[in-house]
Amino acid sequence: MCGIIGYIGPKEAKDILLDALELLEYRGYDSAGIALNSGFENPIEVLKCAGRVSDLRKRCEGDKGKGNCGIGHTRWATHGGVCDENAHPHQFGNVTVVHNGIIENYKELMEHYHLAGDLTSQTDTEVAAAVLNHFYQGDPYAAIRKTVLKLKGTFALVIMFEDRPGTIYAVRNVSPIVATCCEEGCMLASDVTALCRFTNSYFVVPEFHVLEMNESGLKLYDMSGEEAIPQYMTVDWDVSRADKGGYPFYMEKEIMEQPDAIRRTIEGRIVNGIPDFSVDGVPDEIFTECERVIVVACGTAMHAGLVGQALIQSKLRMHVDVEYASEFMYADPVVDDKTLVIAISQSGETIDTLEALKYAKKQGARSLSIINVRGASIARESDYVLYTLAGPEIAVASTKAYTTQLAVLYLMVARMAYLRGTMSIEEIHEFVGELARVPKVMESVLSRRQDIHKFARAILNAKDAFMIGRGLDYSILLEGSLKLKEISYIHTEAYASGELKHGTIALITENTPVIAVVTQKKLHDKEMSNIREVKSRGASVTLFIKESYFSQEGEQDWSGIFTLPDMLDEFMVMPASVALQLLAYYVSMDKGLDVDKPRNLAKVVTVE
Ligand code: F6R
Repeated sequence: MCGIIGYIGPKEAKDILLDALELLEYRGYDSAGIALNSGFENPIEVLKCAGRVSDLRKRCEGDKGKGNCGIGHTRWATHGGVCDENAHPHQFGNVTVVHNGIIENYKELMEHYHLAGDLTSQTDTEVAAAVLNHFYQGDPYAAIRKTVLKLKGTFALVIMFEDRPGTIYAVRNVSPIVATCCEEGCMLASDVTALCRFTNSYFVVPEFHVLEMNESGLKLYDMSGEEAIPQYMTVDWDVSRADKGGYPFYMEKEIMEQPDAIRRTIEGRIVNGIPDFSVDGVPDEIFTECERVIVVACGTAMHAGLVGQALIQSKLRMHVDVEYASEFMYADPVVDDKTLVIAISQSGETIDTLEALKYAKKQGARSLSIINVRGASIARESDYVLYTLAGPEIAVASTKAYTTQLAVLYLMVARMAYLRGTMSIEEIHEFVGELARVPKVMESVLSRRQDIHKFARAILNAKDAFMIGRGLDYSILLEGSLKLKEISYIHTEAYASGELKHGTIALITENTPVIAVVTQKKLHDKEMSNIREVKSRGASVTLFIKESYFSQEGEQDWSGIFTLPDMLDEFMVMPASVALQLLAYYVSMDKGLDVDKPRNLAKVVTVE
């Protein structure tokens, strides 16, 4: 969480920093700030405020903020409330700093260095600045080295020293920093989104290395002072794919992009009708030598894992656990060298997922990750990676990342079934053929999106809503409910509809909004009975149903009904997800909310 940027070069730093912060704002948007350095004659100037980057822009208008060297930050609050004082950059003595991560021992450090009376904010970051200042005797490297030895927790620290104008230093543990040196100057950032307007070439600053950037370029040193060579990589998306493309919100654009994102993700990974991961360098042994699978992931990515679990269990008859990454290691999980751990993450930076993966590897598991952002920390930590080719996902609510994660899981299940002989070649061809049909089916849902927009109006003013279904429909609804609550602020519960009568049905009263999904033949009758149970208690039901399961002669009193194009039952999650994403999107938009940046959230979650 938190977005960081640093720049030194021939241009005005203020403009570059503000533009970059706007691109990084999805990492956190509680406050924003920049610090600019215009040479020996002037002190470092800090401009910061609570609120969005647009508020900071206003504060920076006019003559303020000169210099061609500076650092910037957009915050997701962890320590201390959302106010100007807690916004970064923080200054202490000679030191100006921005930080992403959490300094867990900040209280001990405060006590040890007697800082209490000297701090002006409630942040852990200002404590880190004070410790740096304490150790700074004119040698930045020594100060940084001594400081990081004292810090516990995760950090990406970007530092300027008052008496070293035109130089930026950075160091990190876990929290990411990428950097580059190009025609426009030297830059560092929390992720490549902020750099790819200038170059497609960047490197990841290794953990516990010090990066120094100045007018003559950049240098990297390890903690013993040895120079290290940056390992440059190429970013595989162009920045035009990171703008809104004429849509009012990134989320709508990203929902609409899904058919192409799925095509990109599966293309090149099917050879003669059979999924094949040779292009990804993933060996077959990883799928044949494991006896069980554990999926670790958070939020939407975890919901993708639940679909993967259902598919692997039914097509491979293999045991699969899906775990919240944040809970995984604390439950003493059973992991051994016959376990394949699959980490799913859009950003590849979610710290809980990263830590769960490291834990499983330590117990001997082999690992595979499904990641969207190339070269991200989880990808680097995994034995093998299958990238989703969704392109940049900017809206906080995940859409195309989720459906491309599903696409990779479908491919993986079919490859495993092929290798382990649990599906015939004909069955695999049919399965893969159905996956290839997904983009067209999604397009058909998208073309009827205004019908879904109408249903959104019915739940606009609701305080609570229920989403009910069973089996795979329940998995779809867990995701649909997360989407609706995070961007519309309507309290929404996804419920396995057979469970309702064990308590929750008490909450169904006249006009309670209920959204039901019915796409699975084996569950159709039971799901319809459960829907009748809530209808007879006054619920106002919006139904998303597989076309061929909908009987026109049946009940008519739906609050809304949307038929989902027919696919094999195990693929119905694809059209249903798109429909539920659209529902959440229209509710949020019609409520006049900031769809792309819901309150309290951030796109990349790098705190535990
Ligand atoms: C919800 C959402 C989050 C993320 C979760 C994991 O729309 O986006 O629930 O899915 O924070 O993030 P990644 O996939 O980056 O690990």
